[in-house]
Amino acid sequence: MVNAAAETRTFFDGMAPRYDADLRLLGWDPIRLLAEWPFIVPPLKDVLDAGCGTGALLETLAGAGRELTGLDISPVMLDKARNRRPIKGIELHCANAGESWPIADESMDVIVALAMFEFVEHLDVALDEMHRVLRIGGRALFTVEDRVDWGAVEREAYEHRYGEVSLWRRTREEVEASMPPGLEIVRCERVRGYEVLELGFVTAYWVVEAYKP
Ligand SMILES: C[S@@+](CC[C@H](N)C(=O)[O-])C[C@H]1O[C@@H](n2cnc3c(N)ncnc32)[C@H](O)[C@@H]1O
Repeated sequence: MVNAAAETRTFFDGMAPRYDADLRLLGWDPIRLLAEWPFIVPPLKDVLDAGCGTGALLETLAGAGRELTGLDISPVMLDKARNRRPIKGIELHCANAGESWPIADESMDVIVALAMFEFVEHLDVALDEMHRVLRIGGRALFTVEDRVDWGAVEREAYEHRYGEVSLWRRTREEVEASMPPGLEIVRCERVRGYEVLELGFVTAYWVVEAYKP
């Protein structure tokens, strides 16, 4: 049996050297998404980027008294993050977001998780962890890749794969059904995802803002 998490780790370890350049090519821009979304990451707050990759988003959040933490399954992506001077010395955890997160209960004010949950088979487990780690009054912003677009036959080979890795796309209803009690959706919108270059096809993400009252 294929171990999807190990496969994902190997894939992103290999992709790490060119990830930032590829991102531009695919047209996915998490920094712009965060800047344009009416989602405030206040100063003097504990912020976690789950699936932080090379740390580009963390770098934009540095300063303003924020305590930043990153989590990612790929040690090589994390090495790239470690080498960014503005976020030198921040806590970076190498862990699978589809299992328990090595982060204390109610220790984060804000969690972002962009372009990562599609690589997690059990979204409900990851969202339970998000809920556990958020403080009361905390907010999260995460994306879930939309499944609706992937019906056409010629796209079949791509429906459950991204390059060499498995992925899980989900409908809005599936996202809603995976939310733990106590984590409320404030806003959910469909936005442009990334381009599947071989097909000239652009995917879509559900962007979800959630709140722990
Ligand atoms: C497409 S990249 C997105 C990186 C960044 N958040 C962005 O929006 O550009 C996906 C990232 O999620 C990480 N990742 C994939 N599956 C993961 C998992 N199960 N647990 C933690 N990180 C994971 C990958 O290693 C990679 O760094």
